[in-house]
Amino acid sequence: MTKDTILVIGASGQIGTELVTNLRAMYGNAHVVASDVKSATAEVMESGPFEQLDIMDESRLKEILDKYKVTQIYLLAALLSATAEKNIELGWALNMRSLSHVLDLARYGKIKKVYWPSSIAVFGPTTPSINTPQYTVMEPNTVYGISKQAGERWCEYYHHKFGVDVRSIRYPGLISWKAQPGGGTTDYAVHVFHEAIKHGKYESFLSENTTLPMMYMPDAIRATLELMEAPSEKVKIRSSYNVAGISFNPVEIANTIKGHLPEFEMTYKSDERQAIADSWPQSIDDTLAREHWGWKHEYDLKTIAEDMIINLKKQYK
Ligand code: NAD
Ligand code: SER
Repeated sequence: MTKDTILVIGASGQIGTELVTNLRAMYGNAHVVASDVKSATAEVMESGPFEQLDIMDESRLKEILDKYKVTQIYLLAALLSATAEKNIELGWALNMRSLSHVLDLARYGKIKKVYWPSSIAVFGPTTPSINTPQYTVMEPNTVYGISKQAGERWCEYYHHKFGVDVRSIRYPGLISWKAQPGGGTTDYAVHVFHEAIKHGKYESFLSENTTLPMMYMPDAIRATLELMEAPSEKVKIRSSYNVAGISFNPVEIANTIKGHLPEFEMTYKSDERQAIADSWPQSIDDTLAREHWGWKHEYDLKTIAEDMIINLKKQYK
């Protein structure tokens, strides 16, 4: 049996930086091609192939697929919620056109399997916000959320109509230390750790009581790989799966950081990202991901904070 070769598009971002390393450990360095419009971390650039790719350029994408005989694509390139609100045309064009390029390649047999992430942003202000179910009212009011909801519909459509093996997760806000987040509403929960270590203080752009669903990157990567490795018959949802980690607000994360850095001070000044956060769920019901392919998160706020602080202290020294 020939081994799969994977192309990660958007490999220089917050998720790609860690996903590529994990995929290379599983599939072998030469079998995981990283690609992005910008260069990646030294670890990604030096451990295996990297190709510059603007996903809007379909012929360049095909050239890379042929060069490496790619069989799977992880499509991570996107504009995130806050950035997309500032450039709605690009947000819509990039988020939708990239997906349709990749789904069409799978439809015509050029690749065998696709991973494409959705987000809690598919939900909106009319969605029940506590323990938000898999199937519920979805009326997103951001260009990012609308693009993710439309993307989910296209994934399900391509699976049912053309048999495309596409798999997806609705990530909550992701917390990590290896790469900076790329312009989302949940980014405060990463920035706060950097600022706490560098300056001992942070001004949160979300208000004290803004509770959002969050997850630590190792859990998010494991969820992604577990879903992609699951036997096809276990992947019963082909739009996108709810997955949950933990939920907390800015006061709770500040208090947890103070447990490690007692001098740390948090202040609060909401900006335009507050309205986005207010439209999203506070917590997620992921029963179906647990039942279908055995998902279970591991990290809580305490263990996330411990790991973030240990690693960022090393990074800043
Ligand atoms: P990111 O912004 O950190 O990374 C995206 C990468 O895409 C960047 O490296 C960027 O250079 C690249 N990119 C942008 N335009 C491109 C183009 N035209 N061609 C090729 N590459 C291009 O984002 P991320 O946090 O790594 O998110 C990856 C995916 O996961 C996105 O679809 C995002 O919506 C989704 N997601 C992320 C989170 C989160 O909290 N990080 C939560 C939910 C969903
Ligand atoms: N973390 C992402 C954002 O805030 C959620 O999709 O945009």
